[in-house]
Amino acid sequence: MKKVLVSGVQSSGRLHIGNYFGAIKQNVELGNSGEYDSYIFIADYHSMTTLTDAKERIENTFDAACTYLACGLDPSKVALFKQSDVPSHTELTWILSTVTPMPMLMLAHAFKDNEAKNKDINAGLFTYPVLMASDILMYNAHVVPVGKDQEQHIEIAREIAGKFNRAYEEVFTMPHAYIVKDVATIPGIDGTKMSKSKGNTISLFGTDEEIKKQVMSIVTDSARPEDKKNPDESAVYQIHKLFLTKEQDAVLRKKFEDGGYGYKEAKEHCAEAIIAFVSPMREKYNYYRSHPDEVYAVLNAGAQQAESRAKEMMNRVRHVTGLVS
Ligand code: ADP
Ligand code: TRP
Repeated sequence: MKKVLVSGVQSSGRLHIGNYFGAIKQNVELGNSGEYDSYIFIADYHSMTTLTDAKERIENTFDAACTYLACGLDPSKVALFKQSDVPSHTELTWILSTVTPMPMLMLAHAFKDNEAKNKDINAGLFTYPVLMASDILMYNAHVVPVGKDQEQHIEIAREIAGKFNRAYEEVFTMPHAYIVKDVATIPGIDGTKMSKSKGNTISLFGTDEEIKKQVMSIVTDSARPEDKKNPDESAVYQIHKLFLTKEQDAVLRKKFEDGGYGYKEAKEHCAEAIIAFVSPMREKYNYYRSHPDEVYAVLNAGAQQAESRAKEMMNRVRHVTGLVS
């Protein structure tokens, strides 16, 4: 039997180059390889913890599906679906929450960070890692390709799987995070982790003008053009190198280190590299945006595949827990 791959992105905003290099690229490559039984979904239930605008959720979900297809995801090899089309995810969440230690959730980054900022925290945000564990364990995933910020959530899913297996029966497989080291955390234009919620992103499929504008506003230090610069401390370099071959990367590093390469010029080159890279995918993206019927057909077919697998798992879970005899 093939190993199982599961991954997802939230439909909380337009996807950005951090999502692409941190997760989507790996999702598509591994999924299309045919080596795995692959389930990739748009996490609309998750987006409810931060977004309460219904229209926006619909738009973001559609946009994320167009993005995956434009990035080359092959729907004949990967079940691409909308999380809420498989409502059993929420039933399994409840069941798993009853074996989840509360202190473990109190240590989760998303909760701790928001609590530290004295933000209003809803119970959904607090139990978010349990929903994520349910997404992963539902399909008995072996491999979960994600960015570094999600590592802790996978650890939590493993803990929950172990707790359930010990309390009832060996039902769940232990999942493993698949994280590409070089692109684990991509900085945003303010130098901190690029994230939809921070408004510091470079959109994957923005127009040339949008991309240029976002790149030109990447924060830099006060070094003058003639000064030598440390590439590892520059968000412009960190972002630009994602689009380069090893050889081109070495040339760019040297330009930073030698001096005589001002930030304005560096940003212009960075924007050109991004635009050249995204243009062919953006054409496909625009195609899907204007053919919603095709996109929804893919999502519906994906949901049916996921649903049939989820049904089997829920039967098993209901049996071992004594919800059905
Ligand atoms: P965001 O933080 O923008 O809301 P999500 O939480 O929906 O993004 O993340 C979707 C996927 O993209 C996850 O696997 C996440 O780890 C990855 N990801 C998000 N931002 C980055 C980043 N700046 N660098 C690397 N990977 C990222
Ligand atoms: N929490 C993830 C994020 O914000 C999205 C996600 C939800 C996910 N469920 C998942 C990722 C299951 C991998 C597997 O990026």
